[in-house]
Amino acid sequence: MATKAILVTGGAGYIGSHTVLQLLVSGFKTVVIDNLNNSSEIAMRRVKELAGEFGNNLSFHKVDLRDKPALMQIFDTTMFEAVIHFSGLKAVGESVQKPLLYYNNNLIGTITLLEVMAAHGCKNLVFSSSATVYGWPKEVPCTEESPLSALNPYGRTKLFIEEICRDIYRADPEWKMILLRYFNPIGAHPSGYIGEDPHGVPNNLMPFIQQVAVGKRPVLTVFGNDYNTVDGTGVRDYIHVVDLAEGHIAALHKLEDSKIGYEVFNLGTGKGTSVFQMVAAFEKASGKKIPLVIADRRPGDAEIVYASTEKAERELNWKAKYSIDDMCRDQWNWVSKNPYGYESPESNNNNADNGCYT
Ligand code: NAD
Ligand code: UFG
Repeated sequence: MATKAILVTGGAGYIGSHTVLQLLVSGFKTVVIDNLNNSSEIAMRRVKELAGEFGNNLSFHKVDLRDKPALMQIFDTTMFEAVIHFSGLKAVGESVQKPLLYYNNNLIGTITLLEVMAAHGCKNLVFSSSATVYGWPKEVPCTEESPLSALNPYGRTKLFIEEICRDIYRADPEWKMILLRYFNPIGAHPSGYIGEDPHGVPNNLMPFIQQVAVGKRPVLTVFGNDYNTVDGTGVRDYIHVVDLAEGHIAALHKLEDSKIGYEVFNLGTGKGTSVFQMVAAFEKASGKKIPLVIADRRPGDAEIVYASTEKAERELNWKAKYSIDDMCRDQWNWVSKNPYGYESPESNNNNADNGCYT
């Protein structure tokens, strides 16, 4: 296992960078391709440093997944054991405004990747799907067999890619495909050296809270307090990004199982947390007050979503370890050291102070 090479698409992004670090310290040679559309090369440099002696096993190519000749060249020079495919656009609202952008980027990118993999006989794939494919679940917890529906173009790209993968596997059972449906990833590496750095106005709860905490935005808007939940606010299954990264290592090991074909797994904690509970946990971790206003429900938002984790526990031998308090602690550690993300002078200064970045 120690010298196997893994290609990671979108590896400079939030979940990708944390997974690349886990891959490196687990002994994998890791090749990242990313067009840096929603990420920074600084994340790659920091991952390399955090990986210490394993950092030399990382290489990075600034490549768009739809650039087939560039992808072919990368596959021509390295024999990959498997591909972990993170790259994609992920903003729900933007996908409604610009559906063609999402279909082009997410679907054409994936099809190009699958064609190049097939041409090189690399038929092992781990794909980033999403709990978004459960739409507005009629029953919770969501199991891998729950009904699927997409509420927006982003969600449809995930559903379509799941179907494309299934068709490819049906046509050629030599493929091994593991589709991971993530619930709500938050938190950061405990070093505070890598974390989520969304470009533009954040869509998701935790990045928004983090920007209010550092004074970048004045107030958190809570979308609805009249849901049938513990305190009226929406409930989600938040999972620490480091737990999620570990889930990918478990999936890679599962690909070695000769019986594996096309499999879907939820990656969540199985626990639901409301918006108010999340705000309270973040305030406790940060010592900062998060001002909030209540607004109408956000169109398309489900009331309660959380995962059944049984299948992943049983078959991947993986279980999330971190609590909500851990997630908020690590999120605050990252944001307080890097209030402006990767690019600002402040963030570099802060990290120079903690000795991680020179
Ligand atoms: P991210 O935006 O931080 O990372 C995605 C990366 O893909 C970025 O670095 C971006 O630059 C890159 N990319 C996009 N299009 C590309 C292209 N055409 N060619 C090359 N690189 C490209 O997002 P993330 O949160 O790390 O999400 C990773 C994956 O997980 C995505 O597929 C996303 O849809 C999925 N997912 C994320 C969440 C979440 O809440 N973060 C939840 C469920 C599923
Ligand atoms: N929320 C607010 N204010 C905000 C942002 C969010 O009150 O500024 C609320 C939402 O209404 C929801 C909860 O916080 O009740 C979580 O919202 P997120 O946007 O963080 O997460 P969602 O579960 O709604 O959706 C996101 C992605 C989906 C994906 C899902 C799980 O947008 O595509 O995470 O991965 F499926």
